[in-house]
Amino acid sequence: MRFTVAIDGPAAAGKGTIGRAVAARFGFAHLDTGLLYRAVGRRMLDGEPPITAAVALTPEDLSDPDALRTAEVAEAASKVAVIPEVRAALLDFQRAFARRAGGAVLDGRDIGTVICPEAEVKLFVTASAEVRAARRLKELLAAGFETDLGTVLADVLARDARDAERATAPMVAAGDALTLDTSEMSVEEAVAAAVAAVESRQGA
Ligand code: DC
Repeated sequence: MRFTVAIDGPAAAGKGTIGRAVAARFGFAHLDTGLLYRAVGRRMLDGEPPITAAVALTPEDLSDPDALRTAEVAEAASKVAVIPEVRAALLDFQRAFARRAGGAVLDGRDIGTVICPEAEVKLFVTASAEVRAARRLKELLAAGFETDLGTVLADVLARDARDAERATAPMVAAGDALTLDTSEMSVEEAVAAAVAAVESRQGA
């Protein structure tokens, strides 16, 4: 059985939480595609040219996801993500993952538009920049980073602009995506809406 759930949207909107919950609920595999760009960003910060890094990426680069979830790596990821050759190097892996047997959930920025336009379910998960910055601040403080709301909001806005305005595979809702604005939703409500979208397509 091939069944792809494509989840796109800006940083800290809830894509990962929803993606993991939907994958667990239906027994699908889950890929956080942002980690691929973060791993390339990490290698760039360590001195490697981004295209070389993307071509040479191995599962080993993703073995410590928490180490890739810093603000510094997020910014580097957003910068390497504008390079068409970096995106091209990561394409086949993501496409194969999307169409694997047993079903897959991928979250990112261009899953429903570029990686898997044929996805059975497409969601665009968003929330106001202020809500997303407050969520991200909570995560960063819990992880022991010292920062404040103004800094995190500025980072979120800069990343949104870079991700949405780049020429190749910009962050945009697919025409046939269901938009979920999670600004005023609990996690349970957002997950329930995503699960309902999958169930309705499975029953179709
Ligand atoms: O989802 P995230 O915050 O971990 O993503 C980090 C960066 O990677 C994001 O700012 C843009 C880039 N990215 C992308 O361009 N395309 C994807 N499918 C996923 C992430």
